[in-house]
Amino acid sequence: MQAYDERIAGTVRFIREATHITAFTGAGISTESGIKDFRSPGGIWDRYRIVTFQEFVSDHKARVEYWNMRRELFHELNSARPNRAHKALAALEQMGRLQCLITQNIDGLHYDAGNADIIELHGTNKRAACLSCGKSWPIADIQARLEAGERAPTCDDCNGLIKPATVSFGQAMPEKELMKAAECASSCDLFLMIGSSLKVEPAASIPKMAYQAGAKLVFVNRTETPLDTVASIIFREDAGDVLSRVIERLHS
Ligand code: APR
Repeated sequence: MQAYDERIAGTVRFIREATHITAFTGAGISTESGIKDFRSPGGIWDRYRIVTFQEFVSDHKARVEYWNMRRELFHELNSARPNRAHKALAALEQMGRLQCLITQNIDGLHYDAGNADIIELHGTNKRAACLSCGKSWPIADIQARLEAGERAPTCDDCNGLIKPATVSFGQAMPEKELMKAAECASSCDLFLMIGSSLKVEPAASIPKMAYQAGAKLVFVNRTETPLDTVASIIFREDAGDVLSRVIERLHS
């Protein structure tokens, strides 16, 4: 692996030469904001069991388990603020150098950092909605009901099941977002992947689409991914440090 500084310089050169840049982010971009990722030791899937969408809709006990996890995670998610990596991507967009931002994250931190147009593949934790009639609430309203003792809230209009506006395992991905993400990946000439283990779909496929379309790939991820062999530059350093150095160099 080249020295850190050479990889930063190489990334800056790629950004200057590119005409269409797509960034793709996962939980690793938000760890420096205090939100645990999923698959690192001590991550969410070490602390909680995955409740699939099918279990959620068919089993009251599974719903209670799911909402218990959400209630416990609420403060971690809601008190988090954008870190240097989120701010760097917002700066890249403001410089007119970022055409697409695709995220698997539900924390809304890219919006808080100032990015305007974001493809949220896994939905958002900022709201919850009734699975039957679609009525929706700010997540804080549902948190208040949980803290008041409700265990698996239902819709006050139609009695349907309420669920955060996020995509669970086994739940259909939002089609429009998926199509836009595929378009962004296959039309870019530089693809920046930040903080994803690339272990679940569609994360595993989207960088591949960019590669197959001829884009250069830069990966910023502490640990190995199954697609490392197709990346031109790989950073194992922290996303906040890497991306803020890149922005600094672009300004100089
Ligand atoms: N800088 C760079 N990389 C980091 C940092 C950091 N500060 N912190 C963590 N990482 C890396 C980890 O090494 C890990 O490989 O980020 C990656 C996060 O991977 P996952 O925990 O698997 O998260 P993600 O890829 O976003 O998960 C995808 O899976 O469980 C579902 O729906 C959930 O959206 C999520 C999806």
